Amino acid sequence: MRIAAVGDLHCRADTRKNIGIALAGVDSEAQCLLLAGDLTDHGTPEEASWLAEELSHFKVTKVAVLGNHDYESGQEMVVKQKLEEAGIRVLDGEPLALGEEVGIAGIKGFAGGFEHAQLQRFGEVPLKAFVDACIAEELKLENALFQLRTRVRIGLLHYSPCRPTLEGEPLEIFPFLGATRLSGPIDQLRPAAVFHGHAHRGTLRGATRGGVPVYNVALPVLRRLEKPIGYLALDL
Ligand SMILES: [Fe+2]
Ligand SMILES: [Fe+2]
Repeated sequence: MRIAAVGDLHCRADTRKNIGIALAGVDSEAQCLLLAGDLTDHGTPEEASWLAEELSHFKVTKVAVLGNHDYESGQEMVVKQKLEEAGIRVLDGEPLALGEEVGIAGIKGFAGGFEHAQLQRFGEVPLKAFVDACIAEELKLENALFQLRTRVRIGLLHYSPCRPTLEGEPLEIFPFLGATRLSGPIDQLRPAAVFHGHAHRGTLRGATRGGVPVYNVALPVLRRLEKPIGYLALDL
């Protein structure tokens, strides 16, 4: 199956028209379009309606996760509902099988840092809550990947599960762009590929420490390539 993926569309009044341009050709190129969060810019119902309208021009199967921007207005459930009413599956830890071939495990993910510098669950209550939020996402991903019985499994996240796809971002903000913790279930259950967004200044290709391919498909990353593209398409 040929899969297309893009994140960080950040739909708002002045960017909504760019969405159709970015996705031009996706219907004929791919059987499934993955949307890696930050679908809207401020998570308002209005932005979600605009996005649903723009995406309705494309007939390809659409599967999404939310990003941090989609939570900004505290109306993430309305955003999700509006997108699902428009036929876009929005995953938050549910395993989704597209027939017997391809399955998708989707979570938002969370922050926490990488490798030896990952934030540990120690000290004040708010800090423990921060780490717990990431652990909860990790468990959702593990559960979804474990339940999928398809030949090909794909991970779809907003935050990054590894460091290499963040190269290009200021080092100071790496801990807010993802967490090594999220790669635990990936390296254990080994999906064919993982897609994420969130790191607008990052790098397209990377891998977890266990060697699972990871792609940062944030739209600004795809637009900075030597040959700019509006979505990444891969055969999986
Ligand atoms: Fe973003
Ligand atoms: Fe983000």
